[in-house]
Amino acid sequence: MDSDYLTEPEKGGLYKAIFSRRDVRSHFIQKDIPDDALLRILNAAHHAPSVGFSQPWNFILVKDMPTRQKVKESFLRERERSTRMLDDNRERQDKYRSLKLEGIIESAVNICVTYDPTRFGPFVLGRTSIEETGVYSVCCAIQNLWLAARAEGIGVGWVSILSNQDLEEILEIPPHVKPVAYLCLGYVDEFASKPDLEAAGWLSRMDLADVVCFEKWGSTNSEKWSGLSAAVNRLKTEDNIYMNRP
Ligand SMILES: Cc1cc2nc3c(=O)[nH]c(=O)nc-3n(C[C@H](O)[C@H](O)[C@H](O)COP(=O)(O)O)c2cc1C
Repeated sequence: MDSDYLTEPEKGGLYKAIFSRRDVRSHFIQKDIPDDALLRILNAAHHAPSVGFSQPWNFILVKDMPTRQKVKESFLRERERSTRMLDDNRERQDKYRSLKLEGIIESAVNICVTYDPTRFGPFVLGRTSIEETGVYSVCCAIQNLWLAARAEGIGVGWVSILSNQDLEEILEIPPHVKPVAYLCLGYVDEFASKPDLEAAGWLSRMDLADVVCFEKWGSTNSEKWSGLSAAVNRLKTEDNIYMNRP
């Protein structure tokens, strides 16, 4: 059915959201997110795939500043702890300290995304062999949220330098539910063209050729895949093949 295919501009919009999505920590501006935009973003997250259609996510929306202050304190403690792990590499440690790694207070809204393994359980179709598929499902919802927010012009930053125990206490999360992500959302003055960690010289994007193999682990070309493997090998990391195609 024709209408089931995306039109060229629709495809362009999707790829633009994918390629220009950023993890945002330092570009938030003071502007509230209207409820209708948040509703669209949350509903996009809720339409993610999930193992056995178990929809094991919840979204805890946080605006309250004292709550956010407590989360920030957890971040500061955890960052200090992780900084000590680099005691044997002073240069890396200084670099790590200089990075801005959260926007808990500056963003408009914080959202904690959680995983409930008991939802529709204990038998969840498809989760019987690989337990982690439950958490993978929550990550699919998070990615939907991230891209929908990008489409709305709203930046998202994922803060994982936190103690889950602190989050459970601060947000009164029941013991059977696990926090998966703590996200900071807000309008931004720009979406940077590169990841902040790349711009700061922490790490760079790998070539696609470094992560794709054919038929077997580690096999970088194969007769069956000669066309694609040549194209993968030619692709530069910064290429956005959808946008650049003739
Ligand atoms: C599971 C996960 C946890 C992350 N935790 C943090 C974090 O604690 N602090 C931070 O600044 N960025 C965090 N990020 C964002 C990554 O640093 C970011 O995605 C990566 O550098 C690539 O940049 P980009 O998202 O702008 O493309 C996290 C991302 C993921 C997927």
